[in-house]
Amino acid sequence: MKVKKAVIPAAGFGTRFLPATKVVPKELLPIVDKPTIQYIMEEVALSGIEEVILITGREKGSIEDHFDTSTELENHLRKKGRDDLLKVVQEISGMVTLVSVRQKEPLGLGHAILCAKRVVGKEPFAVLLGDDLIDANVPCIRQMMKIYQDMDGALIAIQKVPRQEAHLYGIIKGKKVMDRVYSVEEMVEKPEKGKAPSNLAIIGRYILPPRIFDILERVKPDRRGEIQLTEGLKELNREVPIYGYEFIGDRYDAGDKFGYLQANLSFGLRHPEIGTKLKRYLKTLSSYC
Ligand code: G1P
Repeated sequence: MKVKKAVIPAAGFGTRFLPATKVVPKELLPIVDKPTIQYIMEEVALSGIEEVILITGREKGSIEDHFDTSTELENHLRKKGRDDLLKVVQEISGMVTLVSVRQKEPLGLGHAILCAKRVVGKEPFAVLLGDDLIDANVPCIRQMMKIYQDMDGALIAIQKVPRQEAHLYGIIKGKKVMDRVYSVEEMVEKPEKGKAPSNLAIIGRYILPPRIFDILERVKPDRRGEIQLTEGLKELNREVPIYGYEFIGDRYDAGDKFGYLQANLSFGLRHPEIGTKLKRYLKTLSSYC
């Protein structure tokens, strides 16, 4: 079945970026000149997905505004003859159809996805986590949709990570079944240091069957009171096969200060306006290193 809908959870508090995220949602922090969530929306749009279900929390109205038409701003740019910027602004609002659903309490990723149950209905859907920024020639979720065409069950993006960082991720153990594809046998959410079953980490891109909703409704909250998606996936794996796909592309953890800076540098160095200048500037910094 074709994947037509994508769920983007954006209800977190962004505590790792306080005080910047006290008023501004972390999804709107820019990588050079574009909010992180816009990169995710572009990935969705370029993959041919028609509808996005945004799961929002309190104070997240500005994310919806960002993807809405801004008549005042457009009139202003028209008057100033800034057709270049007008085009940029108009492209954003025409990107995808956006439906937003409010997550009333921050009860974890699994719960956030469950909030999309009614809007998604009975079809497989994509999930994209805003912290995982993936820079790829073919958008990551598009690569996954191509693989998913010939399969049932669920598909999750994976990437090899250094063993000493495995405790920061959901980790899978699997058997390689074809190039870049693993059949998942085991999953552990944030394993204790030194206890990960492999170095294959779950990255925030998933294609899930609607059955996951019924399962998430039954998943018990963890020690922190959160309903984890990985727990739901473990349950789902008892009923249908789950595959891990090692995508092609560079991933940045934009939810982490260091990853965020890395993304800014990497995108900045290729930015037509500032790329050359930034390169020159970085060379002058070598005396600090
Ligand atoms: C979530 C998932 C985790 C995954 C990670 C990727 O964790 O629960 O399995 O490895 O995203 O970014 P979070 O980083 O939101 O705590």
